[in-house]
Amino acid sequence: MSTDLNSPRSRIAIIGGGIIGLSIGWRLAQAGLSVDLFERDQVGQSASRAAAGMLAAAVEAEPGEQTLVPLCVASREMWPAFAQELEAASGLPVGLRQEGTMVVALTRDDVETLRSNYDYQRSLGLEMEWLTGAAAKEREPFLNPRTAAAVYSPRDGQVDNRLASAALRVALEKAGGRIHEGVTVTGLEMAGSRVTGVRLGDHVHAADQVVLAAGAWSRLLPGLPVPPPVRPVKGQMLSLQMDPAAPLLRHVVWGPKCYLVPRADGTLIVGATTEEKGFDNQMTAGGVLALLEATWRTLPGVEELPIKEMWHGFRPGCRDDAPILGWALGVEGLMLATGHHRNGILLTPITADAVAAMMLTGHVDERIRAFGPGRFAPARAA
Ligand code: FAD
Ligand code: GLY
Repeated sequence: MSTDLNSPRSRIAIIGGGIIGLSIGWRLAQAGLSVDLFERDQVGQSASRAAAGMLAAAVEAEPGEQTLVPLCVASREMWPAFAQELEAASGLPVGLRQEGTMVVALTRDDVETLRSNYDYQRSLGLEMEWLTGAAAKEREPFLNPRTAAAVYSPRDGQVDNRLASAALRVALEKAGGRIHEGVTVTGLEMAGSRVTGVRLGDHVHAADQVVLAAGAWSRLLPGLPVPPPVRPVKGQMLSLQMDPAAPLLRHVVWGPKCYLVPRADGTLIVGATTEEKGFDNQMTAGGVLALLEATWRTLPGVEELPIKEMWHGFRPGCRDDAPILGWALGVEGLMLATGHHRNGILLTPITADAVAAMMLTGHVDERIRAFGPGRFAPARAA
């Protein structure tokens, strides 16, 4: 399917105002389409606010993710230009930092795990450097003195996801898109198998193409013939306040059972639990204790830092941990952009560009071909 800007195919409705819906909306509005984005709460307040903003294409690569890693690497490499364009379009900063990421090991056990991950990640062609404990502490002097070894990933950086969502909101509106907050999409309006709009309670908003970007809630939209297999994967997080003039860390650092993300204003983000508890809305003593204990072991100087904030969020976890990008099965005109799981901030630039290209020209970017909804189609009898 392609879009002629003068044709009636050019009215777009987007369901969900996280970083994914906002960025796709921005690209489509830039191309001259009429974009209406519906967010039941306020934009950028769900997973896109909860995230740490790591662009961790290399250090988060796990066995079994051979197909996903090239997508993550491609998107990471797009971030600098994307950030620059977004900052120029919105007039707002997004806090991209490119100091690189370190993964540290404290015990002999940790070193063995680190070595095995390092070997795997290097076998995928990812750029990583093995550091002795002494070399790691030279780069980050406040690490635990017992730090035994580390891996340095020079190209894995971070962006401030909250700033990025705020900038996308402004950029989308400046490009002519309309954002409707406090408006829940309750279903799809259909003519036969083709979508003709979105239902907002009693009201129908007509649209020629609809994007489902509702994060962890995507499969709950009523009326989907094949709901995308996306579930909430809960993550608890907290942040501490460092002295911005004398921060304890400069790099993103992964310790055993935690990651630490230093922002320019001295905020130190500490993440994260990974819990299969549905949409459970509680912070728990056990979750916070585990994060603080792991942080203290990695960076003992945190002991005196004030706690700034605690929060949780829901990763949109897909059955195979990879995003779902492409035309929905069984509903003509419905685009799926969901299931970004642990990597939605990292994958924003490539998702926005590739999904917008599919909707504008019908062109399927080779880099996303493996991530279409077709991979979950029920097997047909021969
Ligand atoms: P969301 O941001 O959740 O947005 C979906 C929106 O849809 C919500 O605002 C919701 O209100 C709205 N919505 C749902 N249903 C409806 C409806 N029917 N009508 C209207 N609106 C609706 N990724 C990284 O790349 N790096 C990280 O370091 C990182 N850290 C993370 C840490 C944690 C603790 C968590 C939870 C996630 C992390 N992620 C990270 C993952 C990343 O946050 C997500 O993949 C990404 O934010 C998903 O964006 P989204 O727009 O799809 O979803
Ligand atoms: N990518 C970090 C997380 O999901 O916790």
